[in-house]
Amino acid sequence: MQDRLTPNQHIQSDEVARIGVFDSGVGGLTVLQEIYRQLPHESVLYFGDTARVPYGNRSAAEILKFTRETLDWMVQQRVKMAIMACNTSSALALETVRDEYDLPILGVILPGARAAARQGRRIGVIATPATVNSNAYLHAIREANPTAQVWQVACPEFVPLIENNRLEEPYTLEIAKEYIQPLLDRSIDTLVYGCTHYPHLEPILRKFVPSTVKFVNPAIDVVAAAAKELNLLGIQSHSNALSTKFIVSGDPQQFAQLATQWLPTQPLVEQITLPTVTVS
Ligand code: DGL
Repeated sequence: MQDRLTPNQHIQSDEVARIGVFDSGVGGLTVLQEIYRQLPHESVLYFGDTARVPYGNRSAAEILKFTRETLDWMVQQRVKMAIMACNTSSALALETVRDEYDLPILGVILPGARAAARQGRRIGVIATPATVNSNAYLHAIREANPTAQVWQVACPEFVPLIENNRLEEPYTLEIAKEYIQPLLDRSIDTLVYGCTHYPHLEPILRKFVPSTVKFVNPAIDVVAAAAKELNLLGIQSHSNALSTKFIVSGDPQQFAQLATQWLPTQPLVEQITLPTVTVS
């Protein structure tokens, strides 16, 4: 896949091999937060494809293309592992790209589905339209527990609301209730964040989802899986982590401003243009 690279894609690389984490935008920060908590010695290269967010209403072919472009670039940056901190890519591209790269690549769906199947019997999944249509969670949860009941709801408005920093607006609470009430009507005992952006909504969801409903955040489980894999491969870091490198395809200032509310320090953000990016 290296032939799609062009020389302007070089961001100065350092001695330490980083873990590459990517998403369409700020959703992957929920995975990054877990890396800080569970793998404090690891250094991260974070990529947000903000010029092309949201991914969730795009076709499988587009998502596959974007995922390959990101992975090509990450390979060039010499990451030691890639985490798809994006359910949409994990659902639609992971199986295909896994064998195309000489790099461990982890997705969020399998670890999240297994965690959900361990915790619940009546499971609601909220996700992007593309993830819901793929039925990736449905199949993975049923495989882990064939008796689990699963209901999925596509929430196309959530990612634009989060990316536009509209969490505090009454409309966000209103639309969240609209999406989730059908799941509450089914008496779910577990709610899976099937999109990495959605844990950012937790303070809003807590306002009306009964406390008996357990929230599953697959970010926790994918990072636990990454820790195991790093150990197994003998590539875990024992030195101090470098500060996270943040790269986006859209406006770096806008990303920095939005992201800062979920990060311990103000991020320094650079911009790149992937080779075949056509913003639409
Ligand atoms: N955060 C991503 C996911 O987990 C992508 C959301 C989007 O861009 O629509 O699906």
